[in-house]
Amino acid sequence: MPNRLDLPAGFRWGASTAAYQIEGAVDEDGRGPSVWDVFAARLGAVRDGATGRVACDHYHRWPEDVELMRGLGLDGYRFSIAWSRVLPAGAGAVNVGGLDFYDRLVDGLLADGITPMPTLFHWDLPQALEDGGGWLARDTAYRFAEYAELVVDRLGDRVPAWITLNEPFVHMVFGYALGIHAPGRTLMLDALPAAHHQLLGHGLAAAVLRERGHEVMIANNLTPVWPASEAEADVAAAAAYDALHNRLFTDPLLLGSYPDLSAYGVGEDLGGCVRPGDLKLIAGPGLDGLGVNYYNPTRIAAPTEPGGLPFVEAEIEGVPRTAFGWPVVPDGLRELLVGLRDRYGAALPPITITENGCSVADEPGPDGTVHDQPRIDFLAGHLDALAAAVAEGVDVRGYFTWSLLDNFEWAEGYQQRFGLVHVDFETQVRTPKASYAWYRDLIASHQK
Ligand code: BGC
Repeated sequence: MPNRLDLPAGFRWGASTAAYQIEGAVDEDGRGPSVWDVFAARLGAVRDGATGRVACDHYHRWPEDVELMRGLGLDGYRFSIAWSRVLPAGAGAVNVGGLDFYDRLVDGLLADGITPMPTLFHWDLPQALEDGGGWLARDTAYRFAEYAELVVDRLGDRVPAWITLNEPFVHMVFGYALGIHAPGRTLMLDALPAAHHQLLGHGLAAAVLRERGHEVMIANNLTPVWPASEAEADVAAAAAYDALHNRLFTDPLLLGSYPDLSAYGVGEDLGGCVRPGDLKLIAGPGLDGLGVNYYNPTRIAAPTEPGGLPFVEAEIEGVPRTAFGWPVVPDGLRELLVGLRDRYGAALPPITITENGCSVADEPGPDGTVHDQPRIDFLAGHLDALAAAVAEGVDVRGYFTWSLLDNFEWAEGYQQRFGLVHVDFETQVRTPKASYAWYRDLIASHQK
């Protein structure tokens, strides 16, 4: 039996997914292509040549998936809306069939007492917008706000709280700087406009949502940054990394300014894309909550050769690893949350953990059960760390685990399994894992 944790009244339990990772049905009912359809079709872009063409077939099997959520006793479900299902070309003609899908899903969730918490953008930009420059183009921010307005007009009568963007840092770095994710650009520091335009899009959309009385969050991938040693050069490198990974995506929202990126040779205008008034547009609407996606800390050392980036990543030694090879450091979550409170003080809105989980190489055993004890240990450890942060006075309102289902893990295809529910991608059979029962019991013990 899981331990009951000391958490604030009304604490919300949830699970998260994202459209391209679970929906499939990429050509159905008028959906337009997204950057992930195009990227995954490129030879060698995704492990085993996998794509999201079918994924978990959630588009057709969503009632079964909502039933699994009900079985868990979830208070909330975080999913994302595929922009190109709603606006096949990113702007202009509306695909009502696409909106209908999310309409049915929202009603299905509510019928089971689960609050829908949609994310408007989880990396699947309509390809038509990418053809016009994607997030490197300022226009995309305005198109995003129009899309947000359209969706909220349709679903807003039943959806109280919205997440604008998922992990703009990861999308900028993997998508535009390194080319590991769609759209596969390799621009290194020239990718910075993708950060600014995502944040501008957030601000413009947040203004629309808040004007209509909705709650707004953003889900950021945040990491505690550890200098590899106390040497001045390592400490400076860690500060530079912290500025890029964390502060670049929280300072403008919470403080209305960009952090010092001089270590990258970049000024406050991020290479010229920031226009007067932009920071007001980003910070002005305010946030009702900060979504935090936490997976692991990052250890950073000074670069060994001059001329490149002002940091290198160093191994974190002596800790367990997930199947993905990521270090398992539960207390990093407490450190991160307390650090955010200390850094931003009164400017920090309440926090919701919008993602936390791990990949385990788990398959059903001969008895048909999936024994994913490493996931149970991972979740239990991180929830203890969350409760410790709450005990230290951090305002945390909810925890959404990643993920409800095994799914399309981006460049890793179907090789990394993050779900509480095992998915057989040949047959689409769903098998709740041991962690599903554990999470269900944990939630139940808090709802008494
Ligand atoms: C993303 C998810 C992803 C997960 C595990 C997060 O960065 O938001 O889409 O599946 O991490 O890699």
